[in-house]
Amino acid sequence: MRALVSTLAFFAFAASASAQEQPVALKDAPGRAVVEANCAGCHSLDYPRINSPFLDRKGWSAEVTKMIQVFGAPIDAKDVPAIVDYLVANYGKGN
Ligand code: HEC
Repeated sequence: MRALVSTLAFFAFAASASAQEQPVALKDAPGRAVVEANCAGCHSLDYPRINSPFLDRKGWSAEVTKMIQVFGAPIDAKDVPAIVDYLVANYGKGN
């Protein structure tokens, strides 16, 4: 019984650890690190991926600006162009 309990505890731990640590893989391209550093703090990196069919450069700029101004994302203004370039190049409309 004791062995069963600890086996179950182990599986519960392993399952929750993998659910939380499963990284969302963004495409490997210049700017990826800055996006991962700035855009994963509040929500999954799935957000930019799922929205990619809809957004062009204007849309992505507005999206990043909204994250900063509306949701208070602590993103350095100097990082914004690299973030937008990455999102447009890799997850822009038509990609
Ligand atoms: C300060 C927290 C925060 C940070 C940092 C942040 N976001 Fe968001 N983001 C939000 C919130 C809050 C929502 C909307 C609420 C929800 O559905 O969770 C959201 C939603 C989104 C959406 C879905 C569409 C929408 O407008 O609701 C996209 C796409 C998105 N974020 C992209 C990004 C990108 C790209 C970055 C990095 C530049 C980023 N986010 C950084 C808080 C943040």
